[in-house]
Amino acid sequence: MSIPKLTVRVARKTLVAQGICCVELVSASDAYALPAFTAGSHIDVYLPGDIVRQYSLCNDPGETDRYVLGVLNDPNSRGGSKAMHEAVTEGCTLEISEPKNHFELSPDAEQHVLFAGGIGITPILSMVQFLARNGRPFKMHYCTRSKATTAFAQRLSAPSLATHVTHYFDDAIGTPKLELEAELKTLRLGAHIYVCGPKGFMDWVLGTARSYGWPESQLHYEFFAADAPDLSDADSFDVRIASSGQVITIAKDKTVVQALAECGIEIETSCEQGICGTCLTGVKEGRPDHKDLFLTQAEHDLNDQFTPCCSRSLSPLLVLDL
Ligand code: FES
Repeated sequence: MSIPKLTVRVARKTLVAQGICCVELVSASDAYALPAFTAGSHIDVYLPGDIVRQYSLCNDPGETDRYVLGVLNDPNSRGGSKAMHEAVTEGCTLEISEPKNHFELSPDAEQHVLFAGGIGITPILSMVQFLARNGRPFKMHYCTRSKATTAFAQRLSAPSLATHVTHYFDDAIGTPKLELEAELKTLRLGAHIYVCGPKGFMDWVLGTARSYGWPESQLHYEFFAADAPDLSDADSFDVRIASSGQVITIAKDKTVVQALAECGIEIETSCEQGICGTCLTGVKEGRPDHKDLFLTQAEHDLNDQFTPCCSRSLSPLLVLDL
């Protein structure tokens, strides 16, 4: 199934911190407006070189005329951030998907407590602007390596946001460090926690919250990148296509997506790391070996869908709803 695309124009591109650019997208045509979005949404961006990447929208969802992205020029990138920094220029057009949101603010939260690590600020920035504009109780902790690498500091210094935000800089001696355990102890029982940033940062915040018995329903997070799947001790297994009965063997060194593509069965992918959910496929029989960071533990336990870009199988056969 192909995803409908929108054409947008890069209206502005600026450097907002060391290695981080801000890209402002507007509708490429007066004939249509940009679809509305909610705080925490992201879009797929189709970049030169057949690259598709997800970027969070970091502006206030109350803005209806533009989408704003923040992009880190990551030296370990697989090409997306390099293309965004080097090949995308003001005035050029890009294709994007409509906004999608897997990282929503909870309407039930008595308080919103947001943790951003580095470039993880992007969805969090949209959230805090929404919360401030709507008078909701929130506080935000923003951890970066240094002032120079702190994106959107000026936006966060606005009077409506500044009193809710605490900055932490790794390189600044004598400045406060995030005392996570102490912070979690002070939160109201009805507080919801939101985390975005590098995997180590997220594992730390989420792991600490879980160790304090924080319920999963009050933990919200979005990963940007995952560790490459370790296939060194992977086993081969079979998948059966439910609609045709065709059985395909997934070799140890192939993903399900790759093996099916070799047999002419295309599954749409984007991140290929188990983060975005684009490849999500139903499972009718068998037990997937979930390797993704997209589904929740409760969704993994149901074993009725999996991400074939990275996940494998614990049973000799998986029957896929294809
Ligand atoms: S392509 Fe993103 S989760 Fe599979």
